[in-house]
Amino acid sequence: MNTIRSTKAIAAWSRSLHREGVTIGFVPTMGALHDGHRSLIRAARLACDAVAVSIFVNPTQFAPTEDLSKYPRQLRHDQALCRREGVDVVFAPTVKAMYPEGAHTTVTVPALARRWEGEARPHHFQGVATVVTKLLSLVQPDIAWFGQKDYQQAMVVRQLVADLNLPGRIVVHPTVREADGLALSSRNVYLTQQERQAAPVLYRALQAGASAIRTGERRGAAIQRLMIRTVAREPLARVDYLAVCHPTTLEPLATIERHAVLLGVIRIGTVRLLDNLLVTAR
Ligand code: PAJ
Repeated sequence: MNTIRSTKAIAAWSRSLHREGVTIGFVPTMGALHDGHRSLIRAARLACDAVAVSIFVNPTQFAPTEDLSKYPRQLRHDQALCRREGVDVVFAPTVKAMYPEGAHTTVTVPALARRWEGEARPHHFQGVATVVTKLLSLVQPDIAWFGQKDYQQAMVVRQLVADLNLPGRIVVHPTVREADGLALSSRNVYLTQQERQAAPVLYRALQAGASAIRTGERRGAAIQRLMIRTVAREPLARVDYLAVCHPTTLEPLATIERHAVLLGVIRIGTVRLLDNLLVTAR
């Protein structure tokens, strides 16, 4: 397995594989790899001849008040995991390589990025959209994998890839969870033991919403109230937002016709936990 640091070298790697007719699968990450990332890598390994994983803690998607400096960084451990999973190339550029002096073009996806995470983190999706555009242009994958865990991010990426004719089919991979339902996240390490025990309340709230829909409830507001009540029973948790939305526009749904996505963020201590469920009404 190779670790590539420069943008020129990753582009050259991709060109040489494409010349030989080798298909490239790509999993973009910020490192601190866990079983959620691993399942994306395994899906890529199954579908493509060669797999590239990027590890880059992208500064432009963090606000000055956020956890950029303390975001977990463990390149050696991540490289070992990638090697075990049969990854061909880890692309781990420096900030300077990705954003050389003078770079100032950005990518925005206004409608999709406005609500939910976009409201709580105003520049976040511009940072994500810009770095994903750059990564896809460099790696030129046949298929790229994104986790359903970050549902709004996956929709932003789908839209920008379609709008900008970027290479690669985007596959959204199911969320990997702990046994008690908590979605795996690099930020779960910030939870104290007590907070960790409280954390699955978000998944329980989403499940309560989903089961209400499956048993006939169609009113968005009623489902939202049910989810909020579920979280309110956990004293350590605060609701940031819990919403019943259209699965592609992410606009709130007054009435569910058939498909919906339940989006949720709660705060436990200093940690924001993010999760979602896709639901189909019967
Ligand atoms: P990161 O948080 O490292 O996540 C990398 C990919 O792993 C994302 O597509 C994310 O949705 C997916 N992922 C995270 N937790 C998961 C889980 N429990 N189950 C399934 N997939 C999971 O998301 C980012 O990095 C960045 O914003 C990035 C896209 C790399 C751009 O900087």
